[in-house]
Order: sequence, then structure tokens, then C-alpha cells
Amino acid sequence: MTFLQIIEKKKLGGELNEGEITFFARAAADKSVPDYQLAALLMAIRLNGMTDRETTLLTLAMRDSGDVADLSRIPGIKVDKHSTGGVGDTTTLVLAPLTAACGVPVAKMSGRGLGHTGGTLDKLEAIPGMRIGLTEEEYVRQIQEIGVAVVGQTGRLAPADKTLYALRDVTSTVDSLPLIASSILSKKLASGSDAIVLDVKTGSGALMKRIEDSLELAKIMVGVGKLAGKPVVALISGMDEPLGTHVGNALEVREAIDILAGRAGGDLLRVSLRLGGYMMLLAGKTATPEEGEALMREAIASGAGLRKLKEMIAAQGGDPRVCDDPDLLPRAAVVRTACCGQEGYVQAMDTTALGMAAQAMGAGRLQLTDRIDYSVGYVLKVRIGDRVAMDTPLCELHARNEEDAARAEAAVRAAITIGPEPCPRARVFYATVTADGVHLLEENE
Ligand code: URA
Ligand code: CA
Repeated sequence: MTFLQIIEKKKLGGELNEGEITFFARAAADKSVPDYQLAALLMAIRLNGMTDRETTLLTLAMRDSGDVADLSRIPGIKVDKHSTGGVGDTTTLVLAPLTAACGVPVAKMSGRGLGHTGGTLDKLEAIPGMRIGLTEEEYVRQIQEIGVAVVGQTGRLAPADKTLYALRDVTSTVDSLPLIASSILSKKLASGSDAIVLDVKTGSGALMKRIEDSLELAKIMVGVGKLAGKPVVALISGMDEPLGTHVGNALEVREAIDILAGRAGGDLLRVSLRLGGYMMLLAGKTATPEEGEALMREAIASGAGLRKLKEMIAAQGGDPRVCDDPDLLPRAAVVRTACCGQEGYVQAMDTTALGMAAQAMGAGRLQLTDRIDYSVGYVLKVRIGDRVAMDTPLCELHARNEEDAARAEAAVRAAITIGPEPCPRARVFYATVTADGVHLLEENE
């Protein structure tokens, strides 16, 4: 079999067999096939799709293209959580300490920001001294000792995805359901957890902007998890506006601390509790996600969640005092508020553009080698459905200088539509997908 024959087969719409798919994943991992042939096959997959069987085989072959972490030394059911990416989405920093404080071990390998979306690793590095590059040994020991670790990938995890992801980014083949599903799940399956909770976003700031596509992606990933022998539950949640109010690395850490300290709430807390509830369920800690949510609320009220975050920060070399005094986090030179300057109702937000506005301020990378400025970003003061007046605050800008603040203000303004008609709040929950099927959620369920 030659690689050219595999490309030919997929080009004509055929179904690849196990040998062909394994060949593809290995070739991507060790780069034994030139990029142009890998890219041609990616485009053929993007255009002709894959069957569920092909997607499963590809996921498993990508998982096995590198190391698979062994967490069997840690007692209990280890749960992981992954989001398809959003703006102001700091659920991991809220729910990892909360579920750990409730006795569920959390083994979480997180990623960096990608495009307009933020990444947990970048947020953690906003905490002075924080180390995210643990060895597998250190990672396992920390979970044994304090029940939680949030780190970058240990070892050589799913190297096939590393190659394919970089190629997809520059060949217009990111938006393929089988390629997204295999990319996400191969890494999750390799990181060693026993069960996985996925947060599949839908809306203007999500990778999948239409609910049909988000549902399809969730169904594929839950199905692949089942065939791989790991329970996967997916929540479809809204990304038509930033999830939290804070966008930017240190600002998002501050919001997570405020939530754990019981000073803040809102949609970020709601989604964090829902995802955490499913983690508690999959870990066998509670019989329903609602019971898990109740336990997590108690962990906020008692301060146990914030104490767990402190322990985690200290264990990873960071300064735990930020939990008591968030002013110790990096702070921007210019902090000022911009007002709506218009009367009416907040109708819509281009959340991708809002993410890009933060990125342009220095909160994300425009090129691989860019250094992040942890202090910059903004705090949104409005949500979709709000009634606003001329002098209602729109956002608080945290910028390196006045010029950046002015540019960001213009970008935020352009991304938010204010009109005369009243408008409902943005939807937060859409559906849950489990091995048993799709459960559509009522808005406030
Ligand atoms: N996140 C990933 O890791 N891979 C994708 O393909 C999309 C989002
Ligand atoms: Ca995230």
C-alpha cells in the first residue's frame, strides 16, 4: 500500500480500513510522508467525510501515535474535562478545585490559546511562579497528594495530532467533524483519565457556530468514547457572548477566584457547576449531576474550593496569596471604563471578534513566538438582553497604553450590537449527549 493509494481511495469517497488509517496516523507522527500528501488526504477527508468507524479508528491510531499516560496508581475514577474553546471561558479554574474539594480526583491536561479562544495554560501562567510543565511523575504525585493538577501535556502525547493540527490550520481543513473529534479525543484518551466531560460550545464565539454541527460533533465524540471503552458525556453550551465577564489571562484568574470566594456568579458559575456535576456523576460520587452541583455550592460556601485552588497553586510553585489578594496578579498600566454611548438593548455580540480584540491587546498570540501580556484584556459590563443608556458602562479596559485602550474600545464597540428592540437573554444550555442519546434541555433546566 502506498500513501498515494490512500489519498486516491478517500478522494473517490471510499471507506479507509484499519491498516490505511494506522499508516496515516504513523506517517503524521513521524513525518515519514511529505506534508503535501498529508494535506491532500486531510482535504479529501474534509470534503468526503468519514464514517463513525473510520473516525474511531483514526482517534485510536492518533492516541497510540505517542505516549499514553498511566494514572492507575491514583485510586478512584479520574475525570477530565475539555472545552471546544470559547471566550471568557474559565470553567476549568472554577470546577477543577471545586470537584477536587468534593473528593473527585481531577487529572487535567490543558492547552494554550488557539485563535480567538483563550487557553487554561496561559491563564495559569498569569499567576506569579506557576509551573505548568510537570513530569508525569510529578503530575501523578500531586494528584495523589492533593487530588488535583492542571498542567500542560506530559510526555509525547498524540504527536500525530500535533502535525495534523498545524497542517489543518493552514490548509482550510480545521472545520471537519471527524478531524475535530479525532483531534480532541485522541489527546483526551492519551492523557489517562477514566472518564471525560466535554463542553461543546455553540454560537458566535464557538468553533461550531450552528447548533446542528455542535450536536453532530458531540454525538461523534460520545460514540467514539463508547467504542474506546471510556464514558464520555457532552454538554452543549452557548457561546453567543463571552461566558464570564472577564476576558484576558490575569482578569480571568481573578474572576475564577471571585467565584470560588463566593463574590461572583453568573453564567460562568452555572456552566462550571453543570460540567462539574457531570464529572461527579461519572466519578460515581453522586447519583445525579444536580447532587454534584449542590455539593460544589457547599464547597464554595465553606471556602473549601478556594482552599483547594490555593493548594494547587502552591503545589505548582505559584504564589497562593493571589487567592486572598487578587491585586497581586499582573496589572495593566492603563485601566479605564468606556460607556455604551447609545440607548437601547444589547442585541448581539460577535464573540469571535471580542476574542480577537483581547488577542490584539496582547492577551493572546498572533504568531507562535509572541509573548503574552497577562495583565491586559477587558471586563464586559453588559450582557445580551440588557437595557442600556448612554452612560451605562460598556466595558473596563485593561491595556498597555492609551493607544491600545482606544483600539480595543473601538473593537469591543464594533462587536456589540445595541438596538431599539428588547431582546431575550442569550441561551446558556442546549443539550446533553450521553451514550444513551441526546437530551434537549429547556432554557432554564
Ligand atoms: N481543539 C482541538 O484540540 N482540535 C481541534 O481540531 C479543534 C479544537
Ligand atoms: Ca478553555
